[in-house]
Amino acid sequence: MIQKYIYGNPFETEAVTVSLPASAGQPGYGTIDLTDGFCFAYTMTDTDVVYGLGEASRGINKRGYIYVSHCNDTPEHTEDLRSMYGAHNFLVVDGTQTFGLFIDYPGDLTFDIGYTRLDALEISCAGSDLALYVIEGENPYDIVKQFRKIIGRSYIPPKFAFGYSQSRWGYKTKEDFRKVAAGYRENHIPIDMIYMDIDYMQDYKDFTLDEENFSDFPAFVQEMKEQNLRLIPIIDAGVKVEKGYSIYEEGVENRYFCQREDGSDFTAAVWPGDTHFPDVLNPKAREWFGGHYKFLTDQGIEGFWNDMNEPAIFYSTEGKEEAEEIMRRFLSKEEGLSLLDVQEALAKLANNPKDYAAFYHQVNGERIRHDKVNNLFGYNMTRAAGEAFERFAPNTRFLLFSRSSYIGMHRYGGIWTGDNKSWWSHLLLNLKMLPSLNMCGFLYTGADLGGFGADTTRDLLLRWLALGVFTPLMRNHAAWGTREQECYQFGDTADFAHVIGVRYRLVPYLYSEYMKAALSDDLYFKPLSFVYPKDAFARQVEDQLILGDEIMIAPVYTQNAAGRYVYLPEEMKLVKFLPDGSLYEEILPAGHHYVEIALNEVALFIRQGKCIPVAKPAEYVDAIDTTNLTLLGYTGTSYELYEDDGVHKDYENPENRRILTC
Ligand code: NOJ
Repeated sequence: MIQKYIYGNPFETEAVTVSLPASAGQPGYGTIDLTDGFCFAYTMTDTDVVYGLGEASRGINKRGYIYVSHCNDTPEHTEDLRSMYGAHNFLVVDGTQTFGLFIDYPGDLTFDIGYTRLDALEISCAGSDLALYVIEGENPYDIVKQFRKIIGRSYIPPKFAFGYSQSRWGYKTKEDFRKVAAGYRENHIPIDMIYMDIDYMQDYKDFTLDEENFSDFPAFVQEMKEQNLRLIPIIDAGVKVEKGYSIYEEGVENRYFCQREDGSDFTAAVWPGDTHFPDVLNPKAREWFGGHYKFLTDQGIEGFWNDMNEPAIFYSTEGKEEAEEIMRRFLSKEEGLSLLDVQEALAKLANNPKDYAAFYHQVNGERIRHDKVNNLFGYNMTRAAGEAFERFAPNTRFLLFSRSSYIGMHRYGGIWTGDNKSWWSHLLLNLKMLPSLNMCGFLYTGADLGGFGADTTRDLLLRWLALGVFTPLMRNHAAWGTREQECYQFGDTADFAHVIGVRYRLVPYLYSEYMKAALSDDLYFKPLSFVYPKDAFARQVEDQLILGDEIMIAPVYTQNAAGRYVYLPEEMKLVKFLPDGSLYEEILPAGHHYVEIALNEVALFIRQGKCIPVAKPAEYVDAIDTTNLTLLGYTGTSYELYEDDGVHKDYENPENRRILTC
């Protein structure tokens, strides 16, 4: 049962797609205080667990910390991080009382979950115009499924997007891409996509191509396709300010950019230098911006990643002038000003809250100050693209994911979890975020495998790939200036070919589970407690996940480990994909086990009474032979395989489902 409570006059975020009547009175849980903004307070008992919040730091159980929904360009994913790129205001309290809450509020919102006071859950914000959804159900899993039903079907990518992909900030020329293609294809490391970071553009201008390096782009896209590779370009939020650049000119002329209070176009510097932000909250501007993706789809491009859409600001014109003034005063030796003041002024330039309160959106004839709806920008930039694809090719799927998001965006695209580092702790963080993201509707997700910032190592990359085998988005991405991170850069490539090869053997199963989860508003990744609610130990497990209905994963995430301890809530069949192509299978009883998993092995656990389909090796998704699948698991059981053409949207066709028996 879902109750909706309206406070004040909420901004219509369109996160929820079902229209529910507003309830009168007070929610049946906690108390609401509206004296100073909004505050929901609830007293937790010792054993209550809190799930949810999507993209957030720390554990699957969110207790013991404080999180702020504030979409922000934040490259330091340390444990004390309170805000990331996404704002996912859904949680479930599971314990003495069990209920879910969704706070549909597009501004900053704080979740103090037993941080200030051990037993106090407090959700608060400065504004008091919002919609609160309170969800009751049999258990947390049921509550999550009810929530997912009201926010609409999760985004479904094309099937090629389940292949492996390589990315790096710094590929600049066709030759750079050809080298990556050859590095993978010659070493027989499977791959389907190569990502194009900002250098493919002319001076970082959206919807342009560097003329010298990417002349005759359609022919190059085709050249890659002939190697069964797709190029996936990045699109940034800021449109370069440059006279004569058609996108800029159109935006200025039609007043499609976010404006300052005085009506002038707001200017913020990002990669291209000064930019204007498209006002993607304004439906007309959204349609206009989305329409320009056609520049690339017309040249054969089938997927995109949207970046810098918190939106990130390196500095605004006003911020720069202030900093320059301090520098001038410092240089003219004004008394009382030290170098530290200059340093502070410079440090304040990026993503300064003052700037986010200095520009406005036009929504249905109303002017809305950006900071009040900050968390909707990435959502609506991605929606711009998603809606445009619907117009260009209504029956075709495009790959699309974003850095910034809000619940609602999950209908238009996936997300990647931004600028992590080549740290072992970030491998574990990646694992822990997955079920929380799924609860909030984001099924097509993944982290930068190997780590984006800092230099990776061979062992870290292999272990991370062994988790990535299971994440819908499987992308190796690295930052400019870091060690080269493509799988063929680490000597013997056979281990990489094997680990990524396992992904391709599992694609029929992973795709089938993804599709079933998306089509029935279910989870692809679940915490163990959702499947074994009566198992007290399973409730504590934070480093293993249930994937789909059939398997449990328990990746190794520590350095120098020969394996790891794994908890089995029930008997399961351990399957290890060994580097010589053979399988190791062993039925293990319920309980704790130390399982050896070598660096070049991929392990999974098949639940009792279940089986999964496995394909023969393939080097790209289209080459996977789904007519020749082997079933792994418990004999005498069956599996319902979902399969479609992976391109169109004929999801409900009964022919997409067939039963395979083991
Ligand atoms: C920030 C993104 O998070 C990262 O993935 C990308 O490589 C850089 N921007 C450069 O475009």
